[in-house]
Amino acid sequence: MDLAELVVYHRGAFMPYREATLGLLTHALQYGTGCFEGIRAFWNDEAEQLYVFEPAAHYKRLRRSGNLLLMDLPLGEDELTEVTLELCRRNGFRGDVYIRPLLFKSEEFFGVRLDDVGHELSIVAFPNSKYLDTDDGLKLCVSSWRRVDDNATPARAKITGSYVNVALAKSEARMNGFDDAIVLSDDGHVSEASAANLFVLRDGVATTPDLSQNLLEGVTRALVSRYLRDEVGIPVESRSIDRTELYSADEILICGTGVGVAWVKSLDHRAIGTGQMGAVAKSLRVFYDDVTRARRTLPGIDARAVYPLASARIACTTGEVEFPGAVPAA
Ligand SMILES: Cc1ncc(COP(=O)(O)O)c(C=O)c1O
Repeated sequence: MDLAELVVYHRGAFMPYREATLGLLTHALQYGTGCFEGIRAFWNDEAEQLYVFEPAAHYKRLRRSGNLLLMDLPLGEDELTEVTLELCRRNGFRGDVYIRPLLFKSEEFFGVRLDDVGHELSIVAFPNSKYLDTDDGLKLCVSSWRRVDDNATPARAKITGSYVNVALAKSEARMNGFDDAIVLSDDGHVSEASAANLFVLRDGVATTPDLSQNLLEGVTRALVSRYLRDEVGIPVESRSIDRTELYSADEILICGTGVGVAWVKSLDHRAIGTGQMGAVAKSLRVFYDDVTRARRTLPGIDARAVYPLASARIACTTGEVEFPGAVPAA
């Protein structure tokens, strides 16, 4: 990916990536005082269309995260969705895309506080299909790091600074030969994977850590709960989960915008279930792919088409979008 070719949204305008610059004293760079979202757009080959998945749900969470850090979003959720669609169009994407909105304390100011510090919104979108290779299952460990606590740096808000906690867990796992880590909250119960929520399937019941376990309230978590309950007919319990419940699971699923839906092959060198992809993981992955690529529609789930005419040809080599009503790339 050549970043110089990307068009981004910054200071209320579309501009080339390299023109969206920030000063060294930017508050968010110094102190981690930003909040962000990870949204994905999924390419559907048959429809020749790109779909942004659940944009309003992500912007709603960004608004709530921002509120915690005393920042307002400059636009409403619908307007932000429109900006996101336009950003994708201006980049002429024809493939899966990762979208990163960032609301951050942008003032070049050295005082450590949240009040009375100016903020801005930027959105960067870039081609990206996979965060982790999940087809063969994930080898996980339980991290020695604990999840940040709600009364310290709330995990419920997606705060840039608190992702140091995620990075500590992730790097420890990777450097010890695992794909990712499961992190426990400070009281020793299961919270989530480093950057994904988690479901444990055991004897026909699905459990997922309840919201008091310092986890991010995932958009994908809500979709997976709905799938398990409504489509597979498995009861879903949200409660505190002991570490040792994990080792005796029939299946463990992790889910998030980045990872999609993935199955756990082993945890701390112990096979989970048969050590092969389980029946629920198999069907869930098909469901997730169908819903995100809008092969299947569900009430209340928004997979928003980027291009006005699904059959339009898009000249992505030039970055221009050729269909009626489109605004040419800046
Ligand atoms: C810490 C953390 N937990 C869970 C998730 C999954 O959330 P979502 O499904 O909204 O992407 C993410 C990813 O955004 C995350 O960073």
